[in-house]
Amino acid sequence: MEGVTSLWYRRVHRRWFGGVARYYTPFLSPTQDHVFPKRELREIAPAGNEGVPLVPQLLTRRGSDFLWAANALADMGYEEVNLNLGCPSGTVTAKGKGAGFLAHPVELEAFLEEIFARCPIAVSIKTRLGIAEPEEFWPILELYNRFPVKELIIHPRVQRDQYKNRPRREVFAAAAARSRAPVCYNGDLYTTAAVEKFWGSYPGVDRVMLGRGLVGDPALARKLAGGPPASREELEGFLTEVYEGYTRGFGSRHSAMLRMKELWCYLICLFRDGERHGKAIRKAKNPEEYEARAAAVFRELELLEDLVPDW
Ligand SMILES: Cc1cc2nc3c(=O)[nH]c(=O)nc-3n(C[C@H](O)[C@H](O)[C@H](O)COP(=O)(O)O)c2cc1C
Repeated sequence: MEGVTSLWYRRVHRRWFGGVARYYTPFLSPTQDHVFPKRELREIAPAGNEGVPLVPQLLTRRGSDFLWAANALADMGYEEVNLNLGCPSGTVTAKGKGAGFLAHPVELEAFLEEIFARCPIAVSIKTRLGIAEPEEFWPILELYNRFPVKELIIHPRVQRDQYKNRPRREVFAAAAARSRAPVCYNGDLYTTAAVEKFWGSYPGVDRVMLGRGLVGDPALARKLAGGPPASREELEGFLTEVYEGYTRGFGSRHSAMLRMKELWCYLICLFRDGERHGKAIRKAKNPEEYEARAAAVFRELELLEDLVPDW
């Protein structure tokens, strides 16, 4: 998740909790310069991601830039690249990228033809249903079906939903039945009960992608694999290592604190009545304040077994 997780998070998560088959990078935006900025290079450099099964994700509308990046990723040893056709943010969609690309079917078709003809590694796609109405998805799915998409990850909202409304599961189910590529479901799965209910309702679908649910409850995937919920000590140790990783990685405790605040927006929902503490963390003005307020959460609040999201 862009601005929330990164390589330090993935590395530490894998060690403390695991249960995840594949991690995805936040989107990388290849430009016409055909160089990865230092920040993106760090995100994907194999040395920093050792032992972490990782799929890099690209966000672009230019075939030549996608292919340049995919070739560079292939040279680093990656075997799959994911195309982001789901990001709903206004700054991204205004440029016709992410979910915004779904509004330009002719250009999207040319783009897919170009990349699938020449990409040296497998391509998977993360997609929304369309811009305004879920019915927009049918011609889009027909288009995807023309290419050897390795996996189609569907977040069944439209761009205008942003993160509001509920994922349109009925449209997802119909799409799963019509997709040539194996389908992965994504959206609003925050607890083991929710995921198990999902499996029960859609027995033909054998994979899900977890976003906010995994950030809010780092043990969610482990629990789904039959493991225990996060203990207080584990969560504290995990967060300390993530914070240290970010501090070293960014070379700044202040920048690390900003990242940790993003994580806490989700994590606080794993504690009973965490609202006031969550607000205090958000308002922390410096790392010392942040550290004291994060410690207070562990000292004063009850840790829950399952998330109770307020987002
Ligand atoms: C802050 C934030 C950053 C995100 N960044 C990305 C991203 O870089 N790439 C991506 O495919 N999805 C991104 N997403 C979307 C999530 O991957 C996911 O599709 C969405 O949150 C719905 O799934 P969830 O309910 O499991 O969180 C982001 C979501 C949020 C809230």
